[in-house]
Amino acid sequence: MSRTAAIVPAAGRGERLGPGAPKALRTVGGVPMLVHAVRALATARGVDLVVVAAPPDGVEQVRTLLASHALDEPAVGRSAAAVVVAGGDTRQASVAAALASLPDDVDVVLVHDAARPLAPESLVCSVVAAVRAGSPAVVPGVSVTDTVKRVGATGVVVETLDRTVLRSVQTPQGFARSVLAAAHAAADPATSATDDAGLVEASGVTVSVIAGDEEAFKVTRPIDLVLAEAVLARRRAAGVVG
Ligand code: CTP
Ligand code: MG
Repeated sequence: MSRTAAIVPAAGRGERLGPGAPKALRTVGGVPMLVHAVRALATARGVDLVVVAAPPDGVEQVRTLLASHALDEPAVGRSAAAVVVAGGDTRQASVAAALASLPDDVDVVLVHDAARPLAPESLVCSVVAAVRAGSPAVVPGVSVTDTVKRVGATGVVVETLDRTVLRSVQTPQGFARSVLAAAHAAADPATSATDDAGLVEASGVTVSVIAGDEEAFKVTRPIDLVLAEAVLARRRAAGVVG
């Protein structure tokens, strides 16, 4: 049997969001971001298990939180099991801890930031499908809207990059388990990769980009919370549960 697991790194502090509860526990539409993210994964067809990496001193709190929220949605009527493990000091360490906890029969692994609460279930399904179709590593990407410049130490522009070949990449990212495990095993624990595809690229494996979704944006700064509230309100007004 082969199963798909989704890892949710949720052990960050959310420093760029400013003072308050750890970011994954901050709410959008009254529901913690982590619950939104776990629901999208747990209800997606093709995801069998969700593993959350919680702050090491908050594992019980996160277990209680997940137990107190329904993870399925009535319209979908299914939910994968969710378990909680202790994360680490960096995102890379948190993902590695969750990866090490996976059962043997898992052969496809998604990694999805708790900080992307509104990633649609359709995006989750597209990533799983692309990996199951044979791609060893898959990332959703969207075009870049700002012009991006490389800037030197003195604040002087070094070059202007060609925007047409740039993509902002999102999560969930999907991997053959063996590929992701090898990339993490080869990575320097002292470095801290901000995405898993970066580690896989460094290990020499081809990473494919599929169409991302603008609603899968990451909540990083206070303005992102304003956008998330607006997007969720629009969904609810349209009758989409969330
Ligand atoms: N993350 C994690 N373990 C860490 C650091 C980050 O699991 N030690 C997770 C975060 O909880 C988040 C995801 O990685 O879901 C993406 O990270 P980011 O957006 O940078 O979140 P934070 O690290 O919490 O925010 P900041 O960098 O502003 O402190
Ligand atoms: Mg961070």
